[in-house]
Amino acid sequence: MSGPILVFDSGVGGLSILDEIRRVLPDQSYCYLFDNARLPYGELEEQELIDGCEALITATVAQLGASLVVIACNTASTLVLPVLREALTIPVVGVVPAIKPAALYSQAKHIGLLATPGTIKRSYTHSLIQEFAANCQVELYGSSELVLLAERKASGKQILQGEIAQLLSPIKVSGIDTLVLGCTHFPILKDEIQQYLGGGVLLLDSGKAVAARVSSLIKEESKLNKRQREGYSKEMIALYTLEIGEGLKKSLAEFGFSTYSKAQTG
Ligand code: DGL
Repeated sequence: MSGPILVFDSGVGGLSILDEIRRVLPDQSYCYLFDNARLPYGELEEQELIDGCEALITATVAQLGASLVVIACNTASTLVLPVLREALTIPVVGVVPAIKPAALYSQAKHIGLLATPGTIKRSYTHSLIQEFAANCQVELYGSSELVLLAERKASGKQILQGEIAQLLSPIKVSGIDTLVLGCTHFPILKDEIQQYLGGGVLLLDSGKAVAARVSSLIKEESKLNKRQREGYSKEMIALYTLEIGEGLKKSLAEFGFSTYSKAQTG
């Protein structure tokens, strides 16, 4: 299929991933699909999350003839990848919290994972820690409030440093030297988080790793289907499940989206 790359999240978080993908693949068409009607995903029951994502993503892939899907959401990636890979014939790329690089970079061998409450409790996350950070002391922090703060920032509202401080004070006193931003919403608040925690804490996310994976898959595919891609015109479409306000529309336009509308939910 020669359609757009479909990037999916519950809200604006996946834009942090799309931004990295676009840096390495500027000539592709993208559709950004977000399920803001059900946000925050970190609070949803597992089966509800799986069923809703499967229905929405498979319908949108069929509608757009998407060439590849990126689940730009850690919370969804911990659960929906096997189901989607079974249901779709195109590549499905997920996001994995950057536990492995964090364990390598940390001098103190004391790291933190800041993610949604859903990601924090998943066995997927615990296996990841066991496999790649067994030599580290790992602190776990779950926050949906921070997800909502990132949403607010993306809709043009002001974020107060005091709000960040209130949510992250346990991290500041923990003694970690490396913090994994294990939710794609959090890189949107990276400057605020770094300012509060100070330069002694290294912040890591998975954006560049996902972009590298997508880039290698797209390059492989375009070698195979060179002819189909000729005369291809670039597009940036945003689809959502709940009507959005003017502030967010403005941010999406600044990001480069030319069209946005409600997703067809079936
Ligand atoms: N951006 C998502 C993640 O990476 C989910 C945020 C949420 O809806 O709770 O986990």
